Amino acid sequence: MTSDEASRAAGLVREARSLFVLTGAGVSAESGVPTFRGDGGLWKEHRPEDLATPGAFRRDPRLVWEWYGWRRTRVARAAPNPGHRALARLALLRPGVTLVTQNVDALHEEALHEEALHEEAHREVAERGEVPDELRPIHLHGSLFRTRCTGCARGSSHSEAVDASSEASLPRCHACGELLRPDVVWFGESLPPAVLERSFEAAGRAEVALVVGTSAAVQPAASLPLATLEAGGDLIEVNPDPTPLSGRASVRLRGPAGTVLPDLVERVLEGR
Ligand code: OAD
Repeated sequence: MTSDEASRAAGLVREARSLFVLTGAGVSAESGVPTFRGDGGLWKEHRPEDLATPGAFRRDPRLVWEWYGWRRTRVARAAPNPGHRALARLALLRPGVTLVTQNVDALHEEALHEEALHEEAHREVAERGEVPDELRPIHLHGSLFRTRCTGCARGSSHSEAVDASSEASLPRCHACGELLRPDVVWFGESLPPAVLERSFEAAGRAEVALVVGTSAAVQPAASLPLATLEAGGDLIEVNPDPTPLSGRASVRLRGPAGTVLPDLVERVLEGR
């Protein structure tokens, strides 16, 4: 990344009244959360059809819960990195930022909460342990810390450890007694329509799409920045490696999010 590219990107972000941010697993990599497709990626070691499809859950809910339990433990040990914190500062300090993530961790929320404690305008909400509502990230692919009932579809927060030693010990719905499943989007499933609609609306309204740490291999998430481009906006990509979106980007910031984003956000906020 040259300082020319960084200052061009900062100029675009600074001038945009509306900014759409799309993140993927790469933004959490420096927190120790594995990505999916890179070296050591989850889909290099496991087959998605064994662990992340409705059929896999029907065949062997114990195995699926064991894997999600392991991911929960990994993520619960992780802390936001400077990339999450920079995005949080940007969202807290300037209006018009919509953050959409493909990640099922809660590291964006944690960073927003931590950074909000330092900001007069948001401190009261943060001291209640909350994230300002309008800044809450949109989770395209659900959350590791929520469950959904396979019977009545009721969703709820759920962060307790899951005993996956037998099918009988798996969590069940208090209302109807059916098995609870992780509230994440699996292969072969559609994204919740309202979530998708809000995301496309924000992408289409934005003058700049900042796309961070995603291989842009999974649809419809990968098409969201195209909505910004189609409406005449610019795309900025933050990723150490090229992706299918790179050719459409006005600026490519090649480097890890934990280094690139703090520099970018500092430039935006300081007007450099
Ligand atoms: P991937 O694992 O496909 O891609 C991670 C991207 O992050 C790659 O392009 C890396 O080059 C980049 N990367 C790695 N380290 C980085 C760093 N420190 N800073 C910035 N970028 C870095 O992850 P996603 O694109 O998020 O879906 O994958 C999309 C979806 O595929 C996931 O949400 C998941 C998966 O199947 C579901 O589970 C539905």
